[in-house]
Amino acid sequence: MSSQQHIAARPSLAGLGVYVPGRPVEEVQRELGLARIIKLASNENPFGCPPAAREAMIQEMGQCALYPESSAPALAERIARHWGVDVERVFLGNGSDEIIGLLTRTYVQPGDEVVVADPTFSRYEQNVIIDGGVPVKVPCVDGVHDLDAMLRAVGPRTRMVFVCNPNNPTGTIVGAEALRRFIEAVPANVIVVVDEAYYEYVTASDYLQTVPLLDTHPNLIILRTFSKIYGLAALRIGYGLMHPAIIAELHKVRGPFNTNRLAQAAALAALDDAEWVRRCREANAEGLAYLAQAAAALGLSSYPSQGNFILIHLPTSGTEVGQRLLMQGVIVRPGEQLGIPNSIRVTVGTPEENQAFVEALRRAL
Ligand SMILES: Cc1ncc(COP(=O)(O)O)c(C=O)c1O
Repeated sequence: MSSQQHIAARPSLAGLGVYVPGRPVEEVQRELGLARIIKLASNENPFGCPPAAREAMIQEMGQCALYPESSAPALAERIARHWGVDVERVFLGNGSDEIIGLLTRTYVQPGDEVVVADPTFSRYEQNVIIDGGVPVKVPCVDGVHDLDAMLRAVGPRTRMVFVCNPNNPTGTIVGAEALRRFIEAVPANVIVVVDEAYYEYVTASDYLQTVPLLDTHPNLIILRTFSKIYGLAALRIGYGLMHPAIIAELHKVRGPFNTNRLAQAAALAALDDAEWVRRCREANAEGLAYLAQAAAALGLSSYPSQGNFILIHLPTSGTEVGQRLLMQGVIVRPGEQLGIPNSIRVTVGTPEENQAFVEALRRAL
């Protein structure tokens, strides 16, 4: 085959890279032949999923020859009840990641601008570029969204703004009042997406509850997921809360069966387990405190995190330290992949995993 591309893809793809996920356990095991691998690279729940969700999946397996209900109405109803919103405001996606792509596909036209923080979750920028839009990247201050600067970046061509709260990869949140003022100040013709993938992990009191703002701000979209605290990342299920008029458009664009039967059943059962959420949140907060303290004891600073991960600054390359950790069977995410050179992003594991990571890090420095 000639090295020249023989059928041209859409021009917006030129120069775009492929998303680099945290390395899977199986791959590292195969490569290094290590018996025990600790994966702290993709912000997954180290405790798995609620037992009732697992049971619901097993029950549902007998139905896998049948397509699922297209818009997951039972789950949408359950989510609506959980948050006290009208079911018309709930949209299910194949992970919240799919919803991000559906939003840019539906609303971003070539040349449209979308304001995002820098660094933040890279899928916003990627999707904007694919759809021909122009990401306008506004530097974070100490890992925190600079909402004033983001507001100043909103102009006549702006279609959408993403606020990642807590922010991935820094773990920081924006203050409740600052976010409220921001949402109020963004023009009504600009969509404000607040991505709350780590919502259930937040313990800070200065954190905005965005759901009540849906009534007054038809341009507000809240994204949530079952991939994090509910431990269902492999099933690919997330949701958005938003105005029904936006949902009507997304239904035209999505695939006909974008969420599968196992995911719908598991998520439905998972929502009942409030105790699971409480216990995981608590264990996570303890793990975060432990990791921040252990990093400090090694002379390393970190961002204050409200997610299930922590960004640790290093005096040297995160890629190098990440490789030395990998050789010891610990997978983390080098900051170089996330827009913060000389750092690593570490998912909070079980207490044993956290301890093993700290010991490996001591040896890797
Ligand atoms: C901020 C943020 N949004 C969205 C996602 C995507 O999650 P999902 O598994 O629901 O697609 C992630 C996953 O890491 C994330 O960190």
